[in-house]
Amino acid sequence: MQQNTAYKPSQGLSIEDYAVDEDTISQRTFQTQFNIEPKNQVRLVKLLFMQYQVPNLDQITIFLQDFGLSVAKSTPESRWFNGYGSEPYVYHARKGPRKFGGGAFLVETYADLEKALKVPEAKVLSNGIESLKDAPGGGFIVTLEDPEGFPISLVHGQQQDQSQAQPPTQIILNYEVKKPRVRKFQRFTQGPAAVYRLGHYGLVIGDFQSQFAFYTRNFNIIPTSILYLENDKSENDKGTCGDMVSESRQNVAMFAHIDRGTELVDHHSLFLVTRPPQIHESHVHHCSFEIHDFDTQLIGHHWMLNKNYRPAWGVGRHILGSQIFDYWWDPNDFMVEHYIDGDVVNEDTPVSFHPAASAKDAAWGPDVPQEFLE
Ligand SMILES: [Fe+2]
Repeated sequence: MQQNTAYKPSQGLSIEDYAVDEDTISQRTFQTQFNIEPKNQVRLVKLLFMQYQVPNLDQITIFLQDFGLSVAKSTPESRWFNGYGSEPYVYHARKGPRKFGGGAFLVETYADLEKALKVPEAKVLSNGIESLKDAPGGGFIVTLEDPEGFPISLVHGQQQDQSQAQPPTQIILNYEVKKPRVRKFQRFTQGPAAVYRLGHYGLVIGDFQSQFAFYTRNFNIIPTSILYLENDKSENDKGTCGDMVSESRQNVAMFAHIDRGTELVDHHSLFLVTRPPQIHESHVHHCSFEIHDFDTQLIGHHWMLNKNYRPAWGVGRHILGSQIFDYWWDPNDFMVEHYIDGDVVNEDTPVSFHPAASAKDAAWGPDVPQEFLE
């Protein structure tokens, strides 16, 4: 009898970062081609917290607690939320009309805050360097406005909080042949998927070239993946991987990491994506928080469903960044994500180029809703 070979069993594997796509250049080549001077940059260390202005602090508190955050501090005008990581907070909600307040990055030195005040093309929104005297962990902050009006904050001197609870224990998984979990039974607690820390956020923008230049020139933000649209050209006339500006390709999105040299960092802390023609206003896309593991994620997913929150997309696994994702709409129509198992990269990871459609590709999961792409 002839065997049916049309179907192959599903399987997964981990591949080297340089083998992701043949369309790559080194990070140093990228910097040279784009005339980027690292010594002029404001040096970011990591993403610390998100800032939102919301009309109802109690309403967002209930949502964020079901999402897995805890109240770190509360005043009549502000509420700070933490995870179980060492950051004193990862989400700051201020009372007021609905407004995105931008991400806040830790910078290496106080001098980086002074440098930030002189970033070209940036409007300084803060009153110079301000003290974060009311916020948990204290510190100093500068808030800038990027060329498209998005705030970005730089923070230095914040005290980390080492008193937080330890991460949950890693469960042991049994595979077909290797079964290390011997006479141990899997048991779980129902509840929100506790957030560990903030991972990334992304912006839907109008002018990709100027936003791309602003973030990659002024900060140690370097693309991990760049997405392009192919212009209508003959096959012979197609651009090559190194063409940052090419007649045959138009770059429309990037997933970017914080350049910390050999240190391993998240595949992206920031992403920029050009808005589709039917969308006329630039806006934040989502911010994303790391949680413990896949069981936690699914328990958290069902916790949110049972509370009648609105799922945005998930659970699924991304291709670019590899994260297992789960997106939700908050009561103010801002999107937030739980993720686990994201890629980590460093200075040796090449910058890869991909067709724009790759952004919505998933290894598995539900079809991407149209709303997610807007
Ligand atoms: Fe994300």
